[in-house]
Amino acid sequence: MARKFFVGGNFKMNGSKESIKEIVELLNKVDVPESVGTEVVISPPALYLHWAKLHLTNTAIELAAQNAYPKVSGAYTGEVSAPQIKDVGAEWVILGHSERRHIIKESDDFIAEKTVHALESDLGVILCVGETLEERESGTTIAVCTRQLDPVIAATKDWSHIVIAYEPVWAIGTGLAATPADAQETHAAIRAYLTDKIGKDQADSVRILYGGSVNGKNAKTFNDCPDIDGYLVGGASLKPEFVDIITSRS
Ligand code: PGA
Repeated sequence: MARKFFVGGNFKMNGSKESIKEIVELLNKVDVPESVGTEVVISPPALYLHWAKLHLTNTAIELAAQNAYPKVSGAYTGEVSAPQIKDVGAEWVILGHSERRHIIKESDDFIAEKTVHALESDLGVILCVGETLEERESGTTIAVCTRQLDPVIAATKDWSHIVIAYEPVWAIGTGLAATPADAQETHAAIRAYLTDKIGKDQADSVRILYGGSVNGKNAKTFNDCPDIDGYLVGGASLKPEFVDIITSRS
């Protein structure tokens, strides 16, 4: 079964009403390739989700939040809930991004709890995993990724609304993307692990995105990697070259 090409744009804590409107207006003009079933999801800061929704007219593009607290509502100052994300018109949430794992110190278990809650609230989840440079150099890349996946595997039977993003921490925002061969090797190992844990059918159909310094030029270089089903893009998603990434596979 062919997996649909997926491109996510993670704006992180960037943008203003003006700049986000500009990006959305640019994306409104993009002819998203249908031949590979391309799905595009952009993720402005939570404050601007509604604003982006108001300006988004391209029906091929959806919205994602960058985080969701695992409660419906209540006394959780500063957090946003999955139903609130849905209420402003977003369909997805990014969870487990390395900046949340490493800067905010979110644990694997907490990320799994958030994943389960988001799925129960009918959001799709872009679940990020990936190793630091130190972990890569010590040969623990796969062990780290599988450790991050394990609590989600334990808590979730249905992976049809999860997209995995493999994002090596050393490649994020550094301009130093993984080589297609290195990324493919890790993607294949993740898929093999999932085959063992959640069954071949689900493992074959789950999308695994690559993230880390993807840009308008290098996106195409991953096209021949059979286990790379798209990209999660940070910096370049704020620039016109994001369009080249969206149209890099057709
Ligand atoms: P980058 O970020 O494309 O700027 O490297 C990717 C990400 O953090 O999702």
